[in-house]
This record gives sequence, C-alpha cells and structure tokens, in this order.
Amino acid sequence: MFFPCTINVDKIIINGPCKITGSVKISGAKNAALPLIFASLLTEEPLRLTNIPHLQDVTTAMSLLGRLGVKLELNEQLSINVQAKALSSCRAPYELVKTMRASILVLGPLLARLGEAEVSLPGGCAIGTRPVNLHIKGLEEMGARIVIEEGYIKARIETPSGRLQGARIFMDMVSVTGTENIMMAATLAEGTTIIENAAREPEVTDLAVCLNAMGAKISGAGTSEITIEGVEQLHGATHHVIADRIEAGTFLVAAAATRSKIRVRQVIPHHLDAVLKKLEEAGAVIELGDDYIDLDMQGRKPRAVTIDTAPYPAFPTDMQAQFILLNSVADGSATVTENIFENRFMHVQELQRMGANIELKGHTAVVHGVEHLNGAPVMATDLRASAGLVLAGLVAKGETVIDRIYHIDRGYDCIEEKLSQMGGEIQRVSGRQYQQMLAAAAG
Ligand code: EPU
Repeated sequence: MFFPCTINVDKIIINGPCKITGSVKISGAKNAALPLIFASLLTEEPLRLTNIPHLQDVTTAMSLLGRLGVKLELNEQLSINVQAKALSSCRAPYELVKTMRASILVLGPLLARLGEAEVSLPGGCAIGTRPVNLHIKGLEEMGARIVIEEGYIKARIETPSGRLQGARIFMDMVSVTGTENIMMAATLAEGTTIIENAAREPEVTDLAVCLNAMGAKISGAGTSEITIEGVEQLHGATHHVIADRIEAGTFLVAAAATRSKIRVRQVIPHHLDAVLKKLEEAGAVIELGDDYIDLDMQGRKPRAVTIDTAPYPAFPTDMQAQFILLNSVADGSATVTENIFENRFMHVQELQRMGANIELKGHTAVVHGVEHLNGAPVMATDLRASAGLVLAGLVAKGETVIDRIYHIDRGYDCIEEKLSQMGGEIQRVSGRQYQQMLAAAAG
C-alpha cells in the first residue's frame, strides 16, 4: 500500500525494551462519551457529563454539536455542559463526519427532536466497509422516510403526529452504534419500541442509564432485548461516563508483554472479564478490587492464547491488535480470528517489519511467538492498530518510530505521559523536530 509522505505529522519514538510497571488511572470511555454527548440533542435542557476523556474524537463531537447550534461549556475536572436549547441546523456535514464515523449518532436524536435530519454517509474506513444500513432500517421501521442523496442520509418524519412510532426492530447483526441510534430516537417516539438482538456493550448500558436520568423509560439495556417506552420530552441531567475498558485492557497487555506488574485504577473490572480470562491463560496473576485490577506476570514470558473476537460479553475486536502483539512475543503459537471487521489486520504487516512471525489466512492470523522484536519505523493505520504498535515499541529492542499517531490521539488520553510515568521510554515529537533529529544524526 502507498502511504504519502507524512513529514508534518507528530510521531512517537520509543526506546525499548521497557518495563511497564506501577499504577495508572483509566480515563472515561471514548465509546461511551461520544453517544452521551450526542444524546444532549434530545432535550432543550443542559446535560452535564463528567469523566469526559481528553481525546480528538471528543473535540470532533463537540465541533459537530457547535455546527448544529448547541451551546457547549468545558469545565475543569473533565466535565462538559451541553445545551441544545435551540438548534440552528439539522445537517451533519461530510467534512466532520468523514473524520469520525460515530457522527452517525446524531441521526436518531436530530430526527426525533426536529422531525428531520441530514447526515453525511461516513465513507471509507481503514478497518472495513462499515455500512449504516441497520441504523437506517430501524428508523424507517419507526416511520421515518429516508433517502440517500448526494452522499447524505436525508431523513424526515412523515407520520400524522410528526413523531416517530414505536416498533419492534430486529437487528440482523449486533451493532453498537446502531442500537444506540435507535434507542435514542425511540425515547421520544409515540408508543413502545423493542430492539431485538441489541448490542450488550457496557457503553450501550451507560447511555441507557443517562437517558433514563433524562426522563426516558428504557429497560433491558445490557441484554439483547431493549424496551423503550416513548415519552413526550426529556429533561436535563448529570451523568458520570464509565471507565474505558479498552484503555484499561491496553495497559494490562503492556504490563503482560513487558513481563511486569501493574494496577489499573478507576475501572469497572467485570467489563473486562473476557480480556482478563485471556490474560490469565497467558500466565498473568490477576486480582480484582472494587474499582481496580492488579496484574502480575512475575517476570515470566507470556503463553500464546487463542482469540476469537465477537460482540460483548465475548472478546472485543478493539483488543485484537494488542493481543496479536502479546502472542508475537509469547511462548508457542496461537490463532487470532477477527469476526467483526473484515480489514482489521493492518498492524500485522508493521509487526512483521519488527520481526514478528505472523501468517494471515483470511480473517485469521496465526501468530508464532519469537524471542524478541526489533525496533523499526512503522506506520499507524487506525486507532487500535496504533495501540498494538505502541506496545510493540515497548517490548522491541532499539528505537521504534510510529508515524501518523493522530490515530492514537482519537482514542487514548495522554498515552505517552501515562506510559512514561510507568517506565516507558516514550516521547512525542513533531514532524519538524523529527527531521531535525535525523539531520543531526546524519552529522
Ligand atoms: N454493521 C452493518 N450494518 C450496520 C452497522 C454495522 O453491517 O448498519 C456491521 C459492521 O460492518 C460490523 C458489525 O456490524 O461488521 C459491527 O459493527 P458495529 O455497528 O457494532 O460497530 P460500530 O458501532 O460502528 C462500535 C465502536 C467501535 C467498535 C465496534 C465493535 C463506537 C463509537 N465505535 O463501532 O470502536 O470496534 O463498535 O465493538 O462505539 C474503536 O474504538 O476503535 C472502534 C472502532
């Protein structure tokens, strides 16, 4: 694949091998915060969200709300106040949606609140085709008339009452944002909506908890059947965003791969059950507290573990890249099968350049552990692939330079600060600084 020259973008430089050890506070979950921010569109009253992570995707979500006329206030202590009193537009433009697919989550709320919405189709994605047909079908079943024109999803409510109608919706595939979009729209519908084969991810449950605090009547969130009794209007609320289970899992793998000991704090341990089971299989000793997880590899090399990604509560696709890295430096061989996205192995080629022994067979990677990886210049291609490469840089001997790290800023709050506090020799440099470093090294 051809990557254009990226002289002007930041890079991460890691000098390995390092031990990642100590204690780290986990931030609020990106994939919970984004739908919660968009849920503010459902009411005129202010929504206060605390434990908001400091991420590029959160900034993008806030820019999009700003375009729609929403008033936003950033407070200290990671909280925001969002008030969608009077909306000035119902259009989510391509230039914002293309940078963040989760922008599709304005479709349901805008439609339910204003009776119309225009949201750009998100377009291509590095990890798969990622259609939004299930979002559209669900809203159509609730009475929306939807056409795709000039790259936009144009939706309008044409029912006699001007409100969406409750419906029984069966999701052909388990979709996280699909479930969230329909659930948000259904809060303001006339009658009862039942979502069957709903996503059970903790982020969906967190959204339902917040919507209920805003006056919605949702039951069954966290199971595969969610019931939403529509109400006439929602009101303001305050909600604390749940901890990011993927950030927590990423740090746990960092400690396991570097054969050390770590505590991840301010987490909800049972959200990581499937990941913790695999870490135990890999040889880690795990202890759980109410809001922390301790992992100790006791200096041992990990054992390779078989991974099959699937919707929650099974093993998350968002931890697949990190476990490919773990298996790359483990004892033995194991398969990692990606069942959610069709193109989520872009990190494999980069890991191979660092000395990993991985064969790709369709949507399965067969990983044979090697003694060590070697540092190399590598290219980040998507958020979780970048996380896998950062972990690789920590275990590899020598210098790893990760290009295009803007992907990681979308979903990891201060990753280099957190890792360097735990023993990682990791720094961020601008493209210009990197050119100067190269020039100096060349004499
Ligand atoms: N799908 C369809 N049609 C649809 C929607 C989904 O065919 O209308 C398919 C997808 O192509 C995919 C599968 O259903 O094969 C599941 O996709 P899902 O809709 O659940 O993914 P998503 O909602 O777009 C969220 C997360 C992703 C995470 C996936 C899977 C957010 C904002 N994003 O995406 O997070 O990987 O669920 O758990 O919640 C990330 O954080 O790096 C990330 C990509």
